Formats: sequence, C-alpha cells, structure tokens
Amino acid sequence: MTTAVITGASSGIGLELAKQFAKHKHNVTLVARREDVLNKLADEIKEKYKVQVHVLAKDLSDAKQVDEVYEFTTLHNLQVKYLVNNAGFGDYAFFNTANWEKLSGMIDVNIKALTRLSWLYVKDMIKNERGKIMNVASTAAFQPGPLMAVYFATKSYVLSLSEAMANELEDKGVTVTALCPGPTQSEFLKVADMHNSKMIKDRKLPSSKDVAAYGYKAMMKGKNVAIQGTMNYIMAQGARFVPRNTITKLVRVMQEK
Ligand SMILES: NC(=O)c1ccc[n+]([C@@H]2O[C@H](COP(=O)([O-])OP(=O)(O)OC[C@H]3O[C@@H](n4cnc5c(N)ncnc54)[C@H](OP(=O)(O)O)[C@@H]3O)[C@@H](O)[C@H]2O)c1
Repeated sequence: MTTAVITGASSGIGLELAKQFAKHKHNVTLVARREDVLNKLADEIKEKYKVQVHVLAKDLSDAKQVDEVYEFTTLHNLQVKYLVNNAGFGDYAFFNTANWEKLSGMIDVNIKALTRLSWLYVKDMIKNERGKIMNVASTAAFQPGPLMAVYFATKSYVLSLSEAMANELEDKGVTVTALCPGPTQSEFLKVADMHNSKMIKDRKLPSSKDVAAYGYKAMMKGKNVAIQGTMNYIMAQGARFVPRNTITKLVRVMQEK
C-alpha cells in the first residue's frame, strides 16, 4: 500500500486531509511539532480506517528535521506516492514592527521546508513514474497583502513554484497541485492573530473538512491550481484585471481590524 506524507497534520486543513487519505485507504505519515496531538489522531485513524499510520514530531523550521522526514520514509521503505506540503502559518503585523524570528520561521516553514521536501520526494516519484504533490498555497497568493506582507509573499512563491513544477513534470507521471483556500476555520487565524480583520469578521468561513475534501479531489484529478469556493475563485482570478496598486489598497482595507 502506498503512503501519503502530510505536513501540518496536527490541526485544521492538514488534520482533515489526513482523514481524507485514510478514508480512501492510503497509509499516512503525519508530520507536525505536537506529538501528543498527532498520536491521538493516529489512534483515531487506525481504529476507524484500518490503515498504517506513522507519526513524526518534527519542527519544519529546522532544515535538519525536514531532512529527517525523508530519511524516515526511506529507511522504512514507505512507498510515498503522495506528498502534501500543508504546514504553514501567518503573522498579522506591519512589516517593520513584525518579529524577525517569526518572519524567518515563516519563510523556513512555508517556503524552505516545502521546497526541500518537494525536491527530495519528486526524484523518487519520477523514478517510479507516479506521484502527486499538493502544496497548500492560499488565495493570498494572487496579490500583495499589506499587514501580512511576508505571508502573502510566501504563498505567491508556493503558487509560482507549484505551477512551474507541474509544467516540468507533465510527461513524467507526476502531478503538482497548488491548493488555494480562502479564509478557513482552523487554528490559523488565532496563530496569525487576525481574527478581527475585516477579511474574516462576521463572515461564515468554510470548515477545514470542506477544504480538505475539495483539496483531496483536486489532487487526485491532478489539477494544477485549485481555488476553493466560488467567491474565492472570482476574487483570485479577478485580481489579474485590476491594477496592482488598486488591488493592494483594497487588500489593505480588508485586512484592517
Ligand atoms: N485557515 C486559513 O484561513 C487558510 C487560508 C489559506 C491557506 N491556509 C494555509 O493552509 C495551511 C494549513 O493551515 P490551517 O489553516 O490548517 O492552520 P492550522 O490549524 O494553524 O494548522 C497549521 C499546521 O501547521 C503546523 N506547523 C506550523 N508550524 C510548524 C513547524 N514549525 N513545524 C511543523 N509543523 C508546523 C501546525 O502543527 P504544530 O503546531 O503541531 O507544529 C499545524 O498542524 C497553511 O499552509 C496555511 O497557510 C490557511
């Protein structure tokens, strides 16, 4: 049986993606920092779906621990057919007053770990002529984001990388999907300290379960760019037809508390 490696599986979209894979009878390797939460999820998944589950407590802002994910699956001869780079976080602050450690860690997790894991696993996938990678970007990828400047920029990177990789891998049996959710119910908003921004205040947000179910299907279809939700789709695509400085001003207004 093949395995799906899912990062950021201890909460929100990643946790629900883990359940999606297990429900469809794939073994899963769960990666995040909170081992206790991962173990609890692993027990639940094993009991309910009867698949093999591995738990890897790793801090993906540490390059060494990122490589240990790949080393673990190689050592245990797990057939990694699916890689889901979902771990990520944001930070709500002006660029000049933001905490440097946070910004640096965000770049390490949202960009570096995702790129390194893709680079490591894609070689095996090409050799096996099969594999699917899903990188969790965001609707934030489609325009600049004042008050979360670095976060929006990391997601633009994820979208750009994923589209270029998908193109290069077209004839190699490997697909790459950039999943682009809009604001979603998860721990993200609390971690980023953005629950009062107009972007989300008084809005009914989709659940992580809905986003994961959508993402799973899009990945299996090998869709390149998967924007969850009709309004999110219209806004993300519409951004291309509006001058960039106008869009940036609009996002600033929406981001304010
Ligand atoms: N929720 C939204 O509104 C939204 C919208 C668009 C895109 N997204 C993207 O969706 C993805 C999942 O976010 P979510 O909404 O599900 O948020 P979440 O509930 O906060 O989940 C984030 C996950 O990332 C993991 N993570 C964070 N830092 C990590 C680190 N240093 N090492 C390893 N794992 C780490 C967390 O696990 P530990 O804390 O246990 O390490 C957690 O499992 C992110 O890439 C996010 O940018 C979210």
